[in-house]
Amino acid sequence: MGEGTERMGLLLTETPAEGVLLLTLNRPDKLNALSKDLLEDLVAALSGAATDPSVGCVILTGSGRAFSAGADTADMLERGVASYADPERLARWAAIQDFPKPVIAAVNGYALGGGLELALMCDIVLASETAKFAAPEIKLGSFPGDGGTQRLPRSVGKSFAMQMILTGAMVDGTLAERKGLVSEVLAPEDLLPRSIDIASAIAGLSTAITPYAKRAVQGAFELPLKEGLDLEHQLTVEAFDTEDRMEGLRAFAEKRAPVFKGK
Ligand code: COA
Repeated sequence: MGEGTERMGLLLTETPAEGVLLLTLNRPDKLNALSKDLLEDLVAALSGAATDPSVGCVILTGSGRAFSAGADTADMLERGVASYADPERLARWAAIQDFPKPVIAAVNGYALGGGLELALMCDIVLASETAKFAAPEIKLGSFPGDGGTQRLPRSVGKSFAMQMILTGAMVDGTLAERKGLVSEVLAPEDLLPRSIDIASAIAGLSTAITPYAKRAVQGAFELPLKEGLDLEHQLTVEAFDTEDRMEGLRAFAEKRAPVFKGK
C-alpha cells in the first residue's frame, strides 16, 4: 500500500494525481470476485466520489492476478437465484451504471463474467498485456446477467459477442483491442501510469462538463438514433447554463487557458 492509500474494506482508495481517484478491488485470494460486500464498498466509494468536487475521474483496477473473476460462485451455489436477484445487489449494479463522472477500467488480469461486465460499464477500458477477458458463465450452465448480453454486442459486434458468450473462450488484450473492447493495450508496468495520465487529463478539464459528455455518449448505447440525438441536443442546451461553458468560450477568445470551476 503506498502513501496516502486508505483501506476501505475490500477496496483500496488512493489519489495518485490531482482530481484522480484510484479504486483497487482488493480480494486477491478470490481473484476479486464480486461479493456483495465488495460491491457495497465500491458503490460507497463511488457515491462519495460523485459528490466530491475534488474528484474529476475515477480509475478502477484490481489487485493481484485479476481485475475481477466475476460474480461470487460460492454465494450463487449457496443462495441460488436469491444471490442474483437480490434487490440490494441489483441496486449496487444500477448505482455503478448511474455514476456520473468518467471511469477508466485499468484491466490488469482476468476480467471474467461480472468482471467483464464491470469493465463494460466503465467509460474507457485500458488493458495490460496480461489481461484476459471472457464470459465464462456458459461453462457453468449460465450466461451473463449483469449487462453482458446487451453491452458486449454493442462493444464488439454480434458475431464476436456471440462467440465469447456461447464458448466462454478467453480473449487476450491484443485481440480485445482489435475488436474494440479496449482502447489501448499496455505493458503491465505502463497500465497504471497511462491510466493516471488519461485520468489526469480528464480531471483537468471542467468537472461540470465531463458528466454531460459521458451521459450523451452513453445515450448512443441506450437509445435509438433519433432519441439519442434529442438527448445530445437537450444536454448541450443544459450545459450552456454552466459557468464553465462560458469560461471555455471566453478563454478561447482571449487566447488564455480556461479556469474551470466545475460549475
Ligand atoms: N467466485 C468466487 N471465487 C472465485 C471466483 C469466482 N468467480 N473465481 C475464482 N475464485 C476463487 C477460486 O475458487 C480460488 O479460491 P480457493 O483458493 O479458495 O479455492 C481462488 O479464487 C483462485 O482461483 P483458482 O481457480 O484457484 O485460480 P486458477 O489460476 O487455477 O484459475 C480462473 C483462474 C480465473 C481460470 C478460475 O479461477 C476460474 O475459472 N474462475 C471462475 C470464473 C468464472 O466462471 N466467472 C464467472 C462466474 S458466473
